[in-house]
Amino acid sequence: MCGIVGYIGQREAEPILVEGLRRLEYRGYDSAGLATLSGAELHLRKQAGRIADLVRHLRDRPAAGCLGISHTRWATHGPATDRNAHPHVAGNGSIAIVHNGVIENYTNLKRQLQADGVVFATDTDTEVIAHLIDQHLQDDLVEAVRQVLPLLKGTYGLAVVSSRQPDVLVGARLGSPLVVGIGADEHLLASDPAALLGHTRNVVYLQDHQMCVLRADGWDLLDANHTRVAAAVQRIDWAPADADKGPYEHYMLKEIYEQPEALENAMRGRLADADASAHFGGLNLNARQLRRAERFVFTACGTSWHAALVGEYLFEELARIPVEVEYASEFRYRNAPMDRNTIVLAITQSGETADTLAALRESKRKGHHTLALCNVVGSTIAREADGGVYLHAGPEIGVASTKAFSNQVCVLAMLALYLGRMGHLSSIQGLRMLKEMRALPNAVRRALGCHDDVRRIAAKYQHVRNMLYLGRQYLFPVALEGALKLKEISYIHAEGYPAAEMKHGPIALVDENTPSVFLINAGGVVDKVLSNLEEIKARGGPVIAIAPEGDDELANQLHDRADDVLFVPQVPEYLQPLVSVAPLQLLAYHMALLRDCDVDKPRNLAKSVTVE
Ligand code: F6R
Repeated sequence: MCGIVGYIGQREAEPILVEGLRRLEYRGYDSAGLATLSGAELHLRKQAGRIADLVRHLRDRPAAGCLGISHTRWATHGPATDRNAHPHVAGNGSIAIVHNGVIENYTNLKRQLQADGVVFATDTDTEVIAHLIDQHLQDDLVEAVRQVLPLLKGTYGLAVVSSRQPDVLVGARLGSPLVVGIGADEHLLASDPAALLGHTRNVVYLQDHQMCVLRADGWDLLDANHTRVAAAVQRIDWAPADADKGPYEHYMLKEIYEQPEALENAMRGRLADADASAHFGGLNLNARQLRRAERFVFTACGTSWHAALVGEYLFEELARIPVEVEYASEFRYRNAPMDRNTIVLAITQSGETADTLAALRESKRKGHHTLALCNVVGSTIAREADGGVYLHAGPEIGVASTKAFSNQVCVLAMLALYLGRMGHLSSIQGLRMLKEMRALPNAVRRALGCHDDVRRIAAKYQHVRNMLYLGRQYLFPVALEGALKLKEISYIHAEGYPAAEMKHGPIALVDENTPSVFLINAGGVVDKVLSNLEEIKARGGPVIAIAPEGDDELANQLHDRADDVLFVPQVPEYLQPLVSVAPLQLLAYHMALLRDCDVDKPRNLAKSVTVE
């Protein structure tokens, strides 16, 4: 949420900042701004709206200088107005700051500052930091920032510049990510490495309580005591093209179509025929410790929580290990009794979700071994978990998560195979699973072939106000995910339910204007799902069925009963979520498009929820 980009070097900062902001716009997009310094002159430009609005403003009033900070905002304190856009300034415009996170004690700090005669120009929590730095600034900006940080309660990733010291850019982190990009005679600071693409691949991730001091010709990392600390320079392996839309109209569509390749990447080097199992490099648990695991708790938010629910079915069926799935936002404050041999697995695309991070930290504090499934390499959760597995989905920029979900489910299936093979799964079963998993990317490729049919169905139902998504067993979490995709990007109210549950209440919603999407399993409960489908039809509700191909009897029954049927490739039941989710992602995409919604930047949302 919110994006920060800073630059110091030999080149003009403005175009570099704007390009970086464009790459981070998916993090927040209600206003944007930048401040540059040319000598001791600070140029402040900010604007409510999208980056494109800021760019138009900059055309009339360019901001000169080779040092600057910038921000794209997702509002927390105060509405999205020009005034509340970052950067915020203090000291008669001599200090400028951009900030991600939330300062929880800002009301008290504001009151104290007002008592000292400070006049506030915005509704934001960030402005208090600017004024506090002004109060502490003698002649060293780094020292002033260091003195202010302990006064702040809450979270921050921040970048500060001052016209009183126009050769330095200061950053600080607590709970909100920051990364330094190291170039030749230039340095960048960003909340997300995507902003650095095209400039440098050498990066240093700040840890909590660290500050960075960037100059054109050098950089330092400082701990809370102002002591220089050594830092490992890492290389980013994403290419700039990974973060572009390519021939697609939207990132979401590109990412939906990247799923087969993303799945191949998730499995690459991890399927081991010799053991009829899967291999993982970073679990940091030996076989004995894993065998001792009596229970897993999966914790996550949103779409990642849906992947966790699929994981529960996978682990329990294939590895015979009990799993509980917890919303991270609830789990972090609950004091659930958990025995020592419970492993906590955090599932997160970004690796920065505030609630998931807090749940992970709380579990560590209680002595549990923690694992993480993350997509973003070097993210906070990836670094703080005791071990984990990267998803290798490549950058996911569309706010609605698609390929990360698929790779989460795929990695969970591989983990279930790995754990199953330590227990009751035979080598024959293991080998069969390897074969089935290798065939998966092609099955998903074929499932995506339903594009034109989905567009037709979307056109038919684009004006509805409610939809139901129903599925059983492995497809129940997919129903939840389909409903979430639809509501978040098309703003149509949608609910996902276990198909049989709709009789216990939601069926009251069914009428001729409330379509139901039925996810049909290939396995044992197919007849039950068909009965549930009949119950909807009997009440006049339109039905869209998504069913496995290759079963003529099922196809005939569905053609008789459903209004529309989409067939997806036949795969084993435990892999069905991965082929069934594809038409649901496309359905949400086309409904949103037809309703003129901004698919990649849905209202009120932002990628990576780094506030509670
Ligand atoms: C929905 C979506 C969100 C995220 C959730 C968790 O499409 O993207 O529900 O899944 O905010 O984010 P991560 O996985 O980054 O922890």
